[in-house]
Amino acid sequence: MYETIKGDSCIIYRFLVQNSDRNINYILAPIDSNECIVIDPLDKDGIEEILKNENLFPQYIVNTHAHPDHIKYNSYFLKKYSCKLLAHNFCKDLFEFKFDNIFENDLIILNNLRIKVLHTPGHCPEHISLIIDNCLLCGDTVFNCGVGNTKFRGDVVMLYRTIFHKIKNLPDDILILPGHDYLYNNILFLESLYEDQGKIHKELIELKINFKQENLSPIKDLAFEKKHNPFFRVDELSFWDLVKNKNLFANEEIQYKFRLLRQVRDEW
Ligand SMILES: [Fe+2]
Repeated sequence: MYETIKGDSCIIYRFLVQNSDRNINYILAPIDSNECIVIDPLDKDGIEEILKNENLFPQYIVNTHAHPDHIKYNSYFLKKYSCKLLAHNFCKDLFEFKFDNIFENDLIILNNLRIKVLHTPGHCPEHISLIIDNCLLCGDTVFNCGVGNTKFRGDVVMLYRTIFHKIKNLPDDILILPGHDYLYNNILFLESLYEDQGKIHKELIELKINFKQENLSPIKDLAFEKKHNPFFRVDELSFWDLVKNKNLFANEEIQYKFRLLRQVRDEW
């Protein structure tokens, strides 16, 4: 079962991989074309089902980063469809696939589709995100109400810079399409963080009530993250007023608060 998102220049197909990490796989296809781009192939059968149903043929595989759950079926699709792999140059020491480098501000072009590349390091150094129409495919950089961890080659200060100096500057109505669906867990974390759970926003309570393990959470925009994502709000006094152990975070530097919040989330 998959969803479609219709943009101005492309259709985005996406589905929840039925694993404990709740990965989301994406396929991008220019409108009125049989060509497409596969992002971070993990669920081979789920991707093949879309390709077959929609009569699509991959021209590119794009890896947002080189973690195993984002590159697992690179070889399979590269071989079967004779397509090209695109990834950040930093991947050259990380995997054995031949690929073309993509960098900040590059455009990936397929028919009338233009995909802008952003370098979004932090979760890991090679991480890229993609802007297509009004959507941001952000891999493991931003999750709904959370951010990626920095346990595997990550750098939390770099992640802070990516969120505060790059992601937060994008238009509020850009749709966030993350590499995992962690919304439910991230709401539970937020509840654990707050002094008074009655202060959790109604919108989040409704999302929590309506959560179904087998389904994707609804798509949210950047305005939603600015309003609810604790990692986007570390510079807001009104956010810290709600937090249980606020004294723990009582340091003037925003990036220190961000780092500590990431640590608290890791230990949660
Ligand atoms: Fe990752």
